[in-house]
Amino acid sequence: MKKLVDLLTGELEAAFEKAGYDSQYARVTLSNRPDLCEYQCNGAMAAAKAYKKAPIMIANDVVAALEGSPCIEKVDAVNPGFINIILDADFVASYLKHMNEEEKLGVDTPEKVKTVVVDYGGANVAKPLHVGHLRSAVIGESIKRISKYVGHKVIGDVHLGDWGYQMGLIITELKKRKPELPYYDESFEGEYPEEAPFTIGELEEIYPTASAYAKEHEDYKEEALQATYLLQNGHRGYTAIWKHIMNVSVADLKKNYGALNVEFDLWKGEADAQPYIPDMVEYLKKEGYAYEDQGALVVDVKEETDTKEIPPCMILKSDGAALYPTTDLATLVEREKLYEPDQVIYITDKRQELHFVQVFRCAKKAKIVRGETELKHIGFGTMNGKDGKPFKTRDGGVMRLEYLISDINEKMYEKIAENRTVEEAEAKQTAKKVGLAALKYGDLSNQAAKDYVFDIDRFISFEGNTGPYILYTIVRIKSILAKYAETGKTAEACEFMKAESASAKALMLEAAKFNSVIEGAYEELAPHKICAYIYDLSNAFNRFYHETKILSEENEDRKAGFIALLSITKRVLEACIDMLGFEAPERM
Ligand code: ARG
Repeated sequence: MKKLVDLLTGELEAAFEKAGYDSQYARVTLSNRPDLCEYQCNGAMAAAKAYKKAPIMIANDVVAALEGSPCIEKVDAVNPGFINIILDADFVASYLKHMNEEEKLGVDTPEKVKTVVVDYGGANVAKPLHVGHLRSAVIGESIKRISKYVGHKVIGDVHLGDWGYQMGLIITELKKRKPELPYYDESFEGEYPEEAPFTIGELEEIYPTASAYAKEHEDYKEEALQATYLLQNGHRGYTAIWKHIMNVSVADLKKNYGALNVEFDLWKGEADAQPYIPDMVEYLKKEGYAYEDQGALVVDVKEETDTKEIPPCMILKSDGAALYPTTDLATLVEREKLYEPDQVIYITDKRQELHFVQVFRCAKKAKIVRGETELKHIGFGTMNGKDGKPFKTRDGGVMRLEYLISDINEKMYEKIAENRTVEEAEAKQTAKKVGLAALKYGDLSNQAAKDYVFDIDRFISFEGNTGPYILYTIVRIKSILAKYAETGKTAEACEFMKAESASAKALMLEAAKFNSVIEGAYEELAPHKICAYIYDLSNAFNRFYHETKILSEENEDRKAGFIALLSITKRVLEACIDMLGFEAPERM
C-alpha cells in the first residue's frame, strides 16, 4: 500500500506539472510546523532558482493547480514559498480503512525478498550471560523481527563463542578435580559417559576459578593452553568434554534467552566454522591474497580513501593458530555455502568495529562472499550505571543477566501489587511482561550506537517515554474494546468515520504513518525509530481518550468510528511492540 506521503507527493507532482513546472520539485514531507499544517512541500524554493521566479509565485501556481484534489482539505502558499497542506478527513479515514484490511497494515512485501542472516547474542559458552550480552540480544532480536515483518527471509544465529581458551581452562580444572575421569586416560578406547561430569551450577563456578588460578600460575596456564590446542586438534577425550560443556551450557542459555523473548533459528558457533579453515587458508594463499609477515599470515585490507590506518587482517598467528577474524571469515564461507545470504548483519559492541571492517574487506577482496552480498556491522554503545560508568553490581562485579531480570521483575511486581486487584499469580505474570518491556524499551529507545544510562526507576515508570507507558496504553484500549464487545457488537464491523476533532485527526494521522515508519526503521536497521513512533502514537491516543467520550457516545455511527480507530491503533501498537520483542498483558 502506498505511503500517505507518497500519495501526496503524487498529487503535488501532478499539480507542479499542470502549473508548468518540473515534477521533481514536488516532494512532500511531514510538517515541521504541526501548529500550521500536517504535511508540507518546500519545492517552490528550489524551483525558484531554475525558473528565475519568486518562490511564492510558484507556490501560488501549484496551490491553484491543486484545486479539487480529493486528498486535501486546505492548502496554502506561505511566504517565502512554503506549501502547507491539511489533509481531507474523509481521505484519511479511507486510508485507515484500507490499511485495516491488510494483514501487514499497509507495509508492502519487497519485490526482491532477501535472505538475511542476523548474527547476534554471541554468548560465550561456559561463561554466564552478563549485561554485556544483553544489548546484542535485545537489538538483534528486534532487527530480526523488523526484517521478517517487512517480508524478508531471516535467519537468526546466536554464533556462540564456543572454541576458545575457556574450554581449555575447564578441561584443566576438571582434570585437577577428577583425574580419574576416562577423558584424561589416553589409553581409554571405550564409550565416554553420556552424562556430563558437572551441572551448570558447577560449570559456572569452575570457569572463574580456573581463570583466576591461571592468572597466578604459569604452569597451569600452559596446561590450559595445551588443552585448548589439543581440543582444537581433535583430541578424543577433550572433544567429549567439550560436548558436555556445550550441552549443559546451551540448555542454560536457551532458558536465559527465552526469558528475554529472544529466539534463535540457529545455535551455531565458532566451532562450526573450524572445518572450513584449512581450505580457506589454502585458497587465500594460493590466490595470492594472503602473505607471510613476520611469521604470521595476513591479508592487506587498507584502502586509499582511509583516513586512519587499517592494519592487515590476521589469518594465522606465527604459531599457526587461527584467530577471531579467521573464524568470522570461515563462518562466512559456511554461510555462503549453506544459505547464500544477500545480507549478513552483525550486532556487537561498537569496540569491535575495526575487527568487522577488516573481516568485511577481506571477505570482499578475497571473494569469500559475492560482490553484491551486503555485510553490515551494527556497533552498540555501553550500558552505563547512573554514575556514568559501565553498569556493575553494587559491589562492583559484573552483573549477571539473570539477576538483572529478576531485579526488574521484583520492582515491577511491587509496583503492580500496590493497587493489585488480581490474583497473585496473574500479578507475577504481568510483572514479568511489563518488566521485560521496561528493560527492552529502555535499551531500544536509544540509538544503538550511543551509550545509555540504565535507570531502572525511570524504565519501570508508567509515565513518560517508557515500555510500561506503551503497554498501559494498549491495555487501556483493550479494556475499552472489551467493554464494547460486551454490548454484543464487534470492532471488526465498525466503519471508520472522518475525524471531527483535532485529537481524533491527530491520532488518525499518526496511525497512518505506520508503513512509512517501518520502512524507515528497516532501511536504517533502527528499532529506536519504532520506539519514537509508538511513543508519539500513544500520546496521540491518550490525548484523544481524555478529550472524547467513547463508550458513552450516543450516536452509534460515531461511536463505531471511535471503536474502529481504537482497534487499528491497538493493532499498530501491537505490531510495533512485537517487532521490538515484547508483548502486552491483558490488564495491568
Ligand atoms: N562472542 C563474541 C564476544 O563475546 C561475540 C561474537 C559476535 N559475532 C561474531 N560473528 N563475531 O565478544
